[in-house]
Amino acid sequence: MSTKKKKVKKRYERWTPLYDKIDNFPFISRYQKKWKKNALEALDLSDGDKVLDIGTGTGEILPWIVDRMEEGEVIASDISEGMLERARGRLKKLENLPLGVDIKVVKDDIESSKFPDDHFDKMIATFTFTTVPHLEKAVSECSRILRSGGKMIILDTGRPDSVYGYLLFYPMMISAKVFGKTHIDRNVKNALAEKFEVQPIQKNMMGMAYTLECRSP
Ligand SMILES: C[S@@+](CC[C@H](N)C(=O)[O-])C[C@H]1O[C@@H](n2cnc3c(N)ncnc32)[C@H](O)[C@@H]1O
Repeated sequence: MSTKKKKVKKRYERWTPLYDKIDNFPFISRYQKKWKKNALEALDLSDGDKVLDIGTGTGEILPWIVDRMEEGEVIASDISEGMLERARGRLKKLENLPLGVDIKVVKDDIESSKFPDDHFDKMIATFTFTTVPHLEKAVSECSRILRSGGKMIILDTGRPDSVYGYLLFYPMMISAKVFGKTHIDRNVKNALAEKFEVQPIQKNMMGMAYTLECRSP
């Protein structure tokens, strides 16, 4: 495992107990939950789909995924065991899980994934692609495991499209790098465009949060 990856993994293991508390902070939570739910709507889940939530973290979107399906396969993956434990705990608390949906929470590194070629119909990653240490490797693996014609939705953070946005962006960028090993200044869209047909579908906070629809050719 590369040094960069060890640092990301360690960072998320360490932040696990605080992660949901920060995510549930009123200002952050209100917007993030809305963006995540909109991203999930755009994924347009159908019964029978094989779905992957990449870098699931504490699995916040898992209840919303299973709520939208009667049958199929849902896999939530992450590189951090601590985050995955929280995700498993979240699922255990759910009542009336649909019997026809096979749900697994597994450790997987999206830069060298263990899933077979063309396995998934739908994939989603919320705030993961600015965190993975080697973005190009992750994009390449996503294109390998998503079937041809399959859909992937990416929700993430980026540079603002207004000069006023930079007043907020620079302090956010520095604290994200220092505390979260997260690169919100990354051009995720350009990296994805190497392997997918990419369509921007939503923009929030002067472009600092965006949703992309990626189609596997
Ligand atoms: C900012 S968190 C987002 C978590 C969750 N998707 C959410 O929206 O709350 C980024 C997650 O990506 C995971 N991650 C980082 N690098 C990864 C990799 N190479 N493979 C899989 N997961 C990774 C981290 O462990 C962390 O849980």
